[in-house]
Amino acid sequence: MNDPANLEFSPEAMRTMGHAVVDRAVAHLAGLADAPSNGNFDGIEALCEALREPEPLDGSTLDALLDPLFNEWIPRSFGTPGPGYLAYIPGGGIYPAALADFIADTANRYTGIWQAAPALVQLEANTLDWMREWMQFPATARGVFTTGGSMAMFNAIAAAREQRLGTDIRSGVLYVSSQSHHSITKAARLAGIAHDRVRTIAVDADFRMRVDALQDAIDTDRATGLKPFMVFSTAGTTNTGAVDPLDAVADLCAREGLWHHVDGAYGAFFHMVPALRPLLAGLPRADSLTLDPHKGLFLPYGTGALLVRDGEALRALHASDAGYLPTSQNTFYDPAQYGPELSRGFPGLRVWLTMKLLGTDRYRAALAEKRALALWAADEISKIPGIVMDAAPQLSLFAFHLEHPSLPTLEAQNAATRALMERVTARGRVMVTGAQVGERYLGRVCVLSFRTRRAQMDACIEDMARVAGTLITHG
Ligand SMILES: Cc1ncc(COP(=O)(O)O)c(C=O)c1O
Repeated sequence: MNDPANLEFSPEAMRTMGHAVVDRAVAHLAGLADAPSNGNFDGIEALCEALREPEPLDGSTLDALLDPLFNEWIPRSFGTPGPGYLAYIPGGGIYPAALADFIADTANRYTGIWQAAPALVQLEANTLDWMREWMQFPATARGVFTTGGSMAMFNAIAAAREQRLGTDIRSGVLYVSSQSHHSITKAARLAGIAHDRVRTIAVDADFRMRVDALQDAIDTDRATGLKPFMVFSTAGTTNTGAVDPLDAVADLCAREGLWHHVDGAYGAFFHMVPALRPLLAGLPRADSLTLDPHKGLFLPYGTGALLVRDGEALRALHASDAGYLPTSQNTFYDPAQYGPELSRGFPGLRVWLTMKLLGTDRYRAALAEKRALALWAADEISKIPGIVMDAAPQLSLFAFHLEHPSLPTLEAQNAATRALMERVTARGRVMVTGAQVGERYLGRVCVLSFRTRRAQMDACIEDMARVAGTLITHG
């Protein structure tokens, strides 16, 4: 304290602080199974108002910061890491990844360019290679870690735009389905493809992109002198879990000379499991693929990835030299040559350490289990009086609505389905969310958290049955 400019901590202080954090974090994880899955949002606005604060000119003790963090603020959030989280697309938060982050942050080595930390960068390259193998992409493919699926989409569009359109950006047209994730149109905008150059293609009764409608839209655009260049299909949509006809879209793209991107943010990691590959037939033919390790690899938020079949297309977009940097090389994988970032964290370590520690076969077992749980739960839920299954699980997500003589209109059915999701969630054992899909509001369940096991699915089925019973009896 005598020397305010000295920001270093003694080894003993660092150890004490580290232990304090690990103790709290582990206690938090140990309590997840009993914590309400929907979080506690009582008085949240007043709390946020009260949290506004001036800069802290003087420091405080670590305990004074950890107390409210763990006791008051963390619990006031969706229970994303909890076993009962079946909402949206569940993320992960597997423990070894946190240790990897701690190592990455304390070692704080520079992994933006290969020369600064060659061995560490090689570990990251290894994990990208494993993903390439799981997805059955060729050896020429290259990838990059991003902060999530949205940024993977952005890099994919920029790479395709650069290769296929060059400077003629305004004539380029990109195709999504009505069930595509909104991050694609957002990424398109960021990559210079304006909203009037994004076409939305209709889906079939199973919420899969209609290839005939895609062909028609491409023909129409070509006839008006525009330049179709990229098609997005989805391996597991967010709304209903639909897997687009990836093979048929790949055929069309090959015929038309278009770049085919598969958004596998939710579903691609099921391709790790050989027995499940037929569910994603055609995925290895994609020109590029969005992966979201913070979903299907159970890693903490902040880990997305992109694979590009023609690795040189990604490199052509990003590789650049500067007088103050070492001369770039192309013998070893070099992150800054494949992505927009220079200084960055070390995302590869959380993937590498976790995979090496657990072994990848345990991932296969966990992913197969999540799908089996979803299949079984969908079957049970479809037996509940009043439930109509709109989308059986293709992977591990299913969608349904309530329909009953006591709910005579679409509006009444939508309101009841919404109430079903809200009331099941309010019971606190599982958290579920719905989605407006066309005219219908659909309830949905997505099983992807590594912590979700049979007990949570039992609770989900039980609570769905109980709440559905009250909604159809009393309207
Ligand atoms: C199918 C799909 N694509 C893309 C995304 C966007 O990914 P991220 O949230 O990691 O940016 C999501 C996110 O939930 C998704 O479910």
